Amino acid sequence: MTQERNVSVLIDEAKIAARNSEIAQEIAKTNPKGLLVVAILKGSFMFAADLMRALHHAGLMPQVEFMHLSSYRDATVSSGQVVILKDVESDVRDRDVLLIDDILESGRTIAFAKDLLAARGARVMTCCLLEKPGKRAVSIAADHVGFVIPDKFVVGYGMDVAHSYRQLPFIGVVE
Ligand code: IMP
Ligand code: MG
Repeated sequence: MTQERNVSVLIDEAKIAARNSEIAQEIAKTNPKGLLVVAILKGSFMFAADLMRALHHAGLMPQVEFMHLSSYRDATVSSGQVVILKDVESDVRDRDVLLIDDILESGRTIAFAKDLLAARGARVMTCCLLEKPGKRAVSIAADHVGFVIPDKFVVGYGMDVAHSYRQLPFIGVVE
């Protein structure tokens, strides 16, 4: 018996890897200059790590920074408030920034981060691994989306429920 026995696979490792390569190609086509990846912690850490490698294979030399934002606080329903737990360390002025998050749901998290970085003078592109349509509270569309998924609570590949399941190499649904 393993810890993940109650999780069914929604998107497997091979599909994730193939989509990451495609997204990296899409981003490379925009010809970014001095690309800075800003990954929103914690949920996007695994996606960001894999996308960094895919961007390398697509011929880019991205740098990386992390911003730790929180809005969920152990619940499976968004509180609607975004809190900065850790900010980026570099000056983002005049830089092409690729802002990465795990899931675009209400849009509050990515809109908050995008506005913050844009106010500091960055040119911000957004990229979300997953998108749940029909749940938007803020009008924002990601420039790059990995997969559009049904309105189910997903875990794995960096995403958690109450801090567990982030280690799963696939995206799953808890039964
Ligand atoms: P938004 O701010 O409502 O767009 O929510 C985005 C954030 O909510 C993501 O970064 C996740 O941390 C979290 N989230 C939304 N849906 C899920 C889910 O199905 N599983 C795990 N986290 C989720
Ligand atoms: Mg998150």
